[in-house]
Amino acid sequence: MTATGREWWRDAVVYQIYIRSFADGNGDGVGDIDGIRSRLPYLVALGVDAIWITPWYPSPLVDGGYDVADYRDIHPSFGTLADAKALLDDAHGLGLRVIADIVPNHTSDRHAWFVEALAAEPGSPARSRYLFRDGPDGGSAPPNDWRSAFGGPAWTRVTEPDGRPGQWYLHLFAPEQPDLDWINPEVRAEFESILRFWFELGVDGFRIDVASALAKSPALPDLGYSDAENGGAMLMPWDRDDHPHWDVEAVHDIYRDWREIGDGYDGRMFVAEAIVGPPDRLAPYVRRDTLHTAFNFAFMHAPWDAAALRSVIDDTLGALGAVGAPAIWLLSSHDETRHLTRYGRADTRVQGLARERVQPVDLELGERRARAALLLMLALPGGAYLYQGEELGLRQVENLPDDALQDPAWTRSGGDVRGRDGCRVPIPWSGQEPPFGFGPPGSTPWLPQPAEWRVFTAEAEADDPGSMLALYREALRTRRDQPGFAGEPFRWLDAPGDVLHFERGAGLRCAVNFAAEPFALPVEGRVLLASTPLAGRVLEQDTAAWFTAGA
Ligand code: GLC
Repeated sequence: MTATGREWWRDAVVYQIYIRSFADGNGDGVGDIDGIRSRLPYLVALGVDAIWITPWYPSPLVDGGYDVADYRDIHPSFGTLADAKALLDDAHGLGLRVIADIVPNHTSDRHAWFVEALAAEPGSPARSRYLFRDGPDGGSAPPNDWRSAFGGPAWTRVTEPDGRPGQWYLHLFAPEQPDLDWINPEVRAEFESILRFWFELGVDGFRIDVASALAKSPALPDLGYSDAENGGAMLMPWDRDDHPHWDVEAVHDIYRDWREIGDGYDGRMFVAEAIVGPPDRLAPYVRRDTLHTAFNFAFMHAPWDAAALRSVIDDTLGALGAVGAPAIWLLSSHDETRHLTRYGRADTRVQGLARERVQPVDLELGERRARAALLLMLALPGGAYLYQGEELGLRQVENLPDDALQDPAWTRSGGDVRGRDGCRVPIPWSGQEPPFGFGPPGSTPWLPQPAEWRVFTAEAEADDPGSMLALYREALRTRRDQPGFAGEPFRWLDAPGDVLHFERGAGLRCAVNFAAEPFALPVEGRVLLASTPLAGRVLEQDTAAWFTAGA
């Protein structure tokens, strides 16, 4: 609970730390827990309430740690369990909550369970923790037509212990990420024990990786879509009503059990990564007896367009309000093109991993819109997630050399899809040249940083009142200071179609102008914050302001 008696996760602003790229304490080129600890004061000064740390477990890092080999330990290059505990203590001492990342859909192929499964017989208990099946046609074809999110079939055939080609196992992502079978009670019990392990260590919540994929239709029927129809190799179409491995009803039973576990500890929460299309599909994930919150991908995926955003906002507040859950807004993540770059393109929608291509971009326009988008997002009722570096105005790095790329999508698509590395380039903290304070001088970050990032370091922006960092700090401070931002109150106010204009509690207002025609703010009231300096009381195109209704 907060001082106002509201559960903290209802309005929290959470900062996403992609651990490999945040801060490198030991100089091996990869971010780590010591690095995070050293930057906590920066996050406090920024004004966020919590941090979410992407997977920190032992892992071969085939998919950046989303391939977990041991769920109860820390990857040696990130630190130790003692370091994790020290981080939790430091963060709590500074008033920050910490959300860990749980990956329940699949393990790494190096997880002890999968190693055991490969050595075991078909039909054995060890195999029944995963989805092993015989293929048709004498076993030579995959059991069904499902595709992997990273390209190619979602099935890989194993060599049996006696050396013969044998069964196939399911992996909705890379072959190194075998899917678990959530019908198996042993799988359920194991994850419930893992949740308790981390809750007892002190984590305040979990972000649930691919939360909508765990349950599958038991017969594993064909999807019946060709490659061309499903956009090449994605989990498409994920919004189909009878999809056999996406948003299957049985998934909610798992989360009912998880909620009970979470409720056994004070103030803990879950946030689901459930990419399920329209917000009414999201609502079942956040009923009072299932999870607390879920990312609103419909908002993130929307184009920079007043009508599109307005309808996503209405649908979200309607669907989630009906089940008593807060909306959770976000603009960027470690899986998508940074929104500053996206907003500078002709097509401003999120285009998805499989279709992402380098496109012409106007970065000045993107920056102007990104500033306005922040004020829009932080004025909406509910919580928000920021992705590390967006507060510095970082843009997608679109010219990483081919041989630097590490996303499995790059190799699995045969070089067709560049993948997500461009939003994962290590953060520039200070100085004039790489590693820009990301690691000690002379260390080499795991992805190369552009030389131009000297102007985007936290140090360079700290004292510049016009910087993106200054806007984020000011916006978060204002949001915290204004009681009208807390809670559900929200209503649209009159405005032309290309303007979003709404009121929250205590007469607090926000307007965002998408049109070339300037929008005049009401003459009464006080402007609290504008995304770019205002000339008089007029909002130019692609700008936003917060103001009060009265004097
Ligand atoms: C989620 C993660 C992504 C990962 C995938 C498979 O979408 O955010 O980074 O590749 O799950 O675990």
